[in-house]
Amino acid sequence: MNADRSTPVSGRARGLRMGTALAAATLLTLTGCANPEGGGADPGAGSGGQQVTRTQDAGGPGCTLQQYGADKLDLTKAVVGFSQSEKEANPFRIAETASITAEAKKVGARLITTNANSDLGKQISDIQSMLAQGAQLLIVAPLNSEGLEPALRAAREKKVPVITVDRKLSSAAACKDYLTFIGSDFVDQGKRAGEAMAKATGGTGKVAILLGSSGNNVTTDRTSGFKDYLKASAPGLQIVAEQTGDFAREKGQQVTEQLLQANPGITAIYAQNDEMALGAVTAVRSAGKKPGTDIKIVSVDGTRNAVEGIIAGDLNAVIESNPRFGPLAFQTAQKFYAGESIAPTVIIQDKSYDSTNAKAEVANAY
Ligand code: AHR
Repeated sequence: MNADRSTPVSGRARGLRMGTALAAATLLTLTGCANPEGGGADPGAGSGGQQVTRTQDAGGPGCTLQQYGADKLDLTKAVVGFSQSEKEANPFRIAETASITAEAKKVGARLITTNANSDLGKQISDIQSMLAQGAQLLIVAPLNSEGLEPALRAAREKKVPVITVDRKLSSAAACKDYLTFIGSDFVDQGKRAGEAMAKATGGTGKVAILLGSSGNNVTTDRTSGFKDYLKASAPGLQIVAEQTGDFAREKGQQVTEQLLQANPGITAIYAQNDEMALGAVTAVRSAGKKPGTDIKIVSVDGTRNAVEGIIAGDLNAVIESNPRFGPLAFQTAQKFYAGESIAPTVIIQDKSYDSTNAKAEVANAY
C-alpha cells in the first residue's frame, strides 16, 4: 500500500485555501456549462489543461446528503481515501493521482492513497483498509465496471460516500452504492477517433484495433463509438483485426508485431490509449514501415509523449481523455456537504490533437 498524507495546515489557512480552490473549480464548471455539448474543434480551450464540465446528467434524480444517508463533513479536516486502479507507469495514472493529491493538499484534507495494480481483489481490500484507517470520503478510480460490491457495501455500512472517477460502475446505482460518476464520454471518444481516422486515411484502408483491458466500460464504449462511426460514415475503412493490448505500452508493441505479421495489409491502427499507440509506433518501425505515413495511427488520452509523437509525424491524431479529477471531485464533495443535490453523472469535455494544433497545445498535455 502506498499511503500519502498531506501536510497538516492551520484551520484558518485551510479554510482560505479551500475557498480559493473551490472558487476556481466553480469557475471552470460554469465555463463548461456555457458550451453544453462540447462542440467545436477545441472544447475546453483556455482551461489550462484542467477539466471542464460538459454535462451534468439531469436524466436521473440528484442526490443530497440526506438522501444518501451520510453525515456532514468539513473537508478541511477530513480524511479522504483515493483508490487508484492501475500502476502509475502510464502518464494518465500519474496525472490522475497527482491531481487528486494536489487538490487534497489545497483543500487541507488528509489523503490516503492506494494502488490496486490492476488487481480487483486488491482494490477491494485497499478500500476496506482505507475505511479501517478512518477514511470519511472515498474517491475511487474503479479497475472494472463490476465486482467492487464488497468494498461499496463496506463504505455504505460506515456511511462513507464514494465518488467514482474515470471508469463507470455498470451494475451499481448512483446515490445508493456510490454518490456520482465523474468522467469522459467514452463512446464520443471512440466516435471522434473514427472521425480522425477517416480524415487521416482519406476514408479507406484496413484497420487494426488495439483494445484496452477487458471488464470496463472504457474499452467497450471506445470500441462501439469507433465501430458505429465507421459503419455510418466511413464504410471504406475495414476492421481486419482487434486484440487487447491491456492499455500497456509493451503489450501494445507485442500485439502490433503479431497483427502486422498476420495481416501485412494493415494500413491504420486505432489504439485505445496512447501507451499502446507508442508501443505500436515501435512495432511498425521494426516491421520496416513508417508510422504515421505507411500506417496511420490514432489513439486516445493526450499524454505529452503522444502529442510529441504527432509533432514528430509518428501519430496522426489523439483524442484527449483528461485525468485531472482533483478539482472537480473535491468541488462535487463540497457541494454535497453544503446540502446541494449532486447529479448521478458529471461528464467532462475532452479536446483533440492533430498536426494542426499539436505544437500549440503540447504544453497542456500530461
Ligand atoms: O480509464 C481510462 C483509461 O485507462 C486510459 O485511457 C488509460 O490510459 C488507462 O489505463
